[in-house]
Amino acid sequence: MKNILITGGAGFIGSHVALELLESGYNVVVYDNLVNSSKESLKRVEELTDKSIKFYEGDCLDEDYLLEVLKNEEIEAVIHCAALKAVGESVKKPLMYYHNNITGTLSLLSAMDKANVKNIIFSSSATVYGKPKSVPITEDFPKGECTNPYGWTKSMMEQIMTDLYTSDNSWKVVLLRYFNPIGAHKSGRIGEDPKGIPNNLLPYVTQVAIGKLPYLHVYGNDYDTKDGTGVRDYIHVVDLAKGHVKAIDNLSKLNGVEVINLATGKGYSVLDIINTFEKVNGIKINYKIEARRDGDIAQSYADATKAKELIGWVAQNGLEKMLEDSWRWQKNNPNGYEQ
Ligand code: WQD
Repeated sequence: MKNILITGGAGFIGSHVALELLESGYNVVVYDNLVNSSKESLKRVEELTDKSIKFYEGDCLDEDYLLEVLKNEEIEAVIHCAALKAVGESVKKPLMYYHNNITGTLSLLSAMDKANVKNIIFSSSATVYGKPKSVPITEDFPKGECTNPYGWTKSMMEQIMTDLYTSDNSWKVVLLRYFNPIGAHKSGRIGEDPKGIPNNLLPYVTQVAIGKLPYLHVYGNDYDTKDGTGVRDYIHVVDLAKGHVKAIDNLSKLNGVEVINLATGKGYSVLDIINTFEKVNGIKINYKIEARRDGDIAQSYADATKAKELIGWVAQNGLEKMLEDSWRWQKNNPNGYEQ
């Protein structure tokens, strides 16, 4: 197993996965339409690893092109990261999200089937659990009511791949449920580069820290949590990337459809993030407590035991490292990858 295709491989998660795969001796092919990413990220991954990446600029909706790439590059497994992921935007533009994420995945799976490439690692999300009945969350928890079209696309894509396996047991499907990826490679050369105003907490915090935004809006402090603010399982993006490598390393022993939480098993509140960021980076983060954000849940953190037992993966980085690395990326790249 050497040649791995990453759809969306120029993005925040994809570029970190590409780097770790290269460091582990795999050949990496990236297929990305660059709608929400920059080729600069791949150029930097090549500099950091002193290895090369084959890049194809393409859309997952283009089944014929995907088939051509799968065949020409003799791809053995696909890591499917390409998707639109802005929760708020998905509520405003559901048809765009269902078309891009669902039809794009159907197109990819069809091309893979035709090319006889039947190993897929899917970038899923803790959002598929909806509002969990309790925490920590294990993989046998039922999927829940998603609170936005983005979340539903992840849930539906999991179902599509599960049904595909049921129809043809020669497929191997690994559904990696990401909790909250933050941080950046220790070099500060690759990281999260959201377009426009960030939806997610960490890029918003780092943009406040660098002075691009005046203050952080804290969405609610009246949740049933230790300090009233939302609790999440933040995971270092490098740990997350290494979880993908471990999934590929162990594909031969995985059977059928495997659901795996990629998380630390620890929950931190919004105020924990603010206080720890200020402590490790020596920067004050101005914030205002405001009303809850529609669709948010109080608590989400995982039990990460299955990843350890099944693929020998455990997150290594703690919150302080995540926040130091987030800041180094933002400080060195005030405008992201924009030249
Ligand atoms: C985290 C916490 C907010 C922004 C979503 C997706 C998930 C994944 C990550 C897509 C919550 C609070 C946030 C802000 C705030 N994939 N917050 N002010 O909502 O847990 O997960 O993004 O990217 O699939 O569902 O992540 O970072 O938006 O929020 O107070 O400006 O921070 O209320 O408690 P979330 P988040």
